[in-house]
Order: sequence, then C-alpha cells, then structure tokens
Amino acid sequence: MGICWPKPAKCAHASSNNFSGSAKTHGNTKQESTSSAQKSPLEVSNNEFIASKPQTPVSSNLKADTSVSSNLKSFSFSDLKNATKNFRSETLLGEGGFGCVFKGWIDENTFAPTKPGTGIVVAIKKLKAESFQGHKEWLAEVNYLGQLHHENLVKLIGYCAEYENRLLVYEFMPKGSLENHLFKKGVQPISWATRTQIARGVAQGLSFLHSLDANVIYRDLKASNILLDSDYNAKLSDFGLARDGPTGDNTHVSTRVVGTRGYAAPEYVATGHLTPKSDVYSFGVVLLELLSGQRAMDDERVGFSEETLVDWAKPFLSDNRKVLRIMDTRLGGQYSRKGAQAAAALALQCLHTDPKNRPSMADVLVSLERLHASKGTPRTPQHSQAKLDHHGMKHVNSPHKTRVSTANSL
Ligand SMILES: Nc1ncnc2c1ncn2[C@@H]1O[C@H](COP(=O)(O)OP(=O)(O)OP(=O)(O)O)[C@@H](O)[C@H]1O
Ligand SMILES: [Mg+2]
Repeated sequence: MGICWPKPAKCAHASSNNFSGSAKTHGNTKQESTSSAQKSPLEVSNNEFIASKPQTPVSSNLKADTSVSSNLKSFSFSDLKNATKNFRSETLLGEGGFGCVFKGWIDENTFAPTKPGTGIVVAIKKLKAESFQGHKEWLAEVNYLGQLHHENLVKLIGYCAEYENRLLVYEFMPKGSLENHLFKKGVQPISWATRTQIARGVAQGLSFLHSLDANVIYRDLKASNILLDSDYNAKLSDFGLARDGPTGDNTHVSTRVVGTRGYAAPEYVATGHLTPKSDVYSFGVVLLELLSGQRAMDDERVGFSEETLVDWAKPFLSDNRKVLRIMDTRLGGQYSRKGAQAAAALALQCLHTDPKNRPSMADVLVSLERLHASKGTPRTPQHSQAKLDHHGMKHVNSPHKTRVSTANSL
C-alpha cells in the first residue's frame, strides 16, 4: 500500500554539518508513493520550492513569503551549531524519520545561541540528508506551524534553510513524547488521570485543526508525535504530512497514501480519500494505546503478522463485560472502571469502519470533557448497566498474548 517503510537509518551524531551524504531512506512512515496531490493554498504560495529541487540558499525565498516568515525566526546554521554544542550526541533528544532532534539553548530575546543552562531551551530538528521529500515536509511544517497557533500544538520558533541544511527550532517539551511514556522500558507508567488529560489535549488540538477557521487534516497522529510539557499537557508536533481539508462541496481530499501503519484509517489507505475522519480513526488508535499500553503495531510481530492493535482490541471493545481486559496492567488497576469503559466505547466509535459513523473531533472532545467532569464515571445507560469484570485481571487470559493474524487491516 505504500505505507510500509523500513526503519530510519541511525543519525550520524555530532560535529559534522554534512547534509550531503548519500540520501537515506526517509523515515519509517512518510514516503508518498504517487504524485497527484492537490495543492493547498500554503503549498501554492511556495509552489516553486515544491515543484523543483530546492534552490540554495532558500532563506531569502522564504523571507519573501511574509505569511511564513513573519512569525518565525530565520536562524543561521552556525547559530544552531553553537546552540547545540555542534550537535553533540549528549544533546540528542531523539531520532525520527526526518532526522535527529537536539537540545539547544538560545537567548529568549535575541534568539542568539547561549551557553548550555542559560537562556531558553529549544528542540532543534535537523533533516538527515538532502532529500526532496524531507524538504517538502520541512516546508509544510514551516508553513502550517508558522500560521497555526494553539495551546495543544507545539510552538515552532524558527527554521534554518541554508544551502542543503534544513532545520526546525521548537519550544522544548520537557516530558518528551507520549510514545516514550507508554512503551519505553523502565519508564514510570503514567497514571489514568494523566492519560485522560493527554487524550483531552490531543482532542483539543485536532478539534482546532478541523475547525472551519483552520480546516487542516493532520494525517500523522501517533504516540511519537504527541509531545508533553512539564505538566503532561499534550501538544501535536510534526506537520510535514498535514493537508488542507476539503472545501466547498468536496467531501474529501484526494492524496497519495502516506501515514503510519496501525494508525491510518482503512478507507484512506484503500482509496487515498482523506477527510477529517481519517484523523478521528487515528485518534481512536491513540486512545487504545492509552488504555492498553500496547503499540498500534507490535514490532515483535512484524514479518510474522499484519495484526494491528485495532484488530486485536476491537472484539473486546464491543463487549462491555470484556472491555477491561485490554487495560494496561501497569496501571495496577488504578483507574475508574466506568471511565475506562466509556473511553473504550469512544475509541470503538472512532474506529468505525465507515468514516460517516465516526464522531467528529468536536463530538469526541465533548465526550472526553463529560468523562472528565464526572471524574471518569459517565452516567450513560449503556455503561451503567454493565456488569464489571475485576480490573485486576490476569493477562494470562489476555487476548493480547494470543493475537492472531486477521490481516484485514493495513
Ligand atoms: N519539541 C521537542 N521537545 C522535546 N523533545 C522533542 C521535541 N521534538 C521531538 N522531540 C524528541 O525527539 C524524538 C524524535 O522526534 P521526531 O518527530 O523526529 O521523530 P518521531 O516522531 O519519533 O518519528 P517520525 O519521524 O515518524 O515523526 C521524539 O520522540 C521526542 O522524544
Ligand atoms: Mg515526530
């Protein structure tokens, strides 16, 4: 389907500013397979960059587009080198398909590089190698995050486009990604209250994007793109795949199929028809990850099974007596059963095969706020009738241990 990608190559850490090595496969998620994408207004405003290989340097071209540059600082490459101690490995925060992310320090007023420990901390993402696809995503990120501002979207401070170097400078998110908190071994598990708070933050961010004003489809919702501030407030990052939503009488946007295995909506994968409901599906997958502590795709099974978390969990979600069996054992039973059942029911709605039957993100947000207001115990007839399983369930009988391939997803 064009969305099965190899793991990203490891970052060449430190010192070198060489971006012009052999082009590496870009990421495990993001290669677009054909070329029939509509031009969004944002893309059109930078059409020359997209239509041809980027000219160097491009900073001056970007500056010409005032809608992009007015909110963002244009950094020089040497400034960012200095801010990260020459991209030294000790400043490495993480690595994705785009490249490596480093911790840096800049002056909060002048944005000039400062000594580590002084000024403000930023996260600096550095494109791995010269890559047209990478440049395109970099540009989309600059365009969208340069214009969209919301408390649940990560703040882009600036960019660097100097010769072949492409970098992005973000606010630093001290708690890192949700992926690390849910799946990394040895990390303290996050509580039920924190998980529902994160779900609300993500829903708020997506609702904002889907609102008439923004009309943006995010297209890359996954645990690694949800970043957490010091109070575990969630912010969406990575707008490289975002697209303008349908306008007028159009019901969808026709696009190349890109996204992440296990998160992408099945109808989008099958047809390339993108709607805000594609994001709703991905939100359902993230909600399942929050509930179960299981990855959307189980790495261990790659090569052996196409089964996704959704394949595995769906039968349990639709049976209120069984639903608690999917819960993350690391929660130690410390969650509201009714709240978990309500969240599971919401996930099931989001994961409906027919996108028309999925709720809008605005509806999802209302449900989550209601859940929050009732302290995780919504009083809907559907849930109050349920007979509850013991939530200290043993995962010996957990269906997760006996996941079988149904191969009906991606
Ligand atoms: N603003 C930030 N503040 C703190 N850490 C960050 C920030 N942005 C990214 N990171 C860290 O860097 C890691 C890599 O992020 P990146 O977006 O490059 O890759 P990814 O999301 O894991 O994969 P993909 O390329 O598929 O998006 C994140 O998981 C996170 O730990
Ligand atoms: Mg990311």
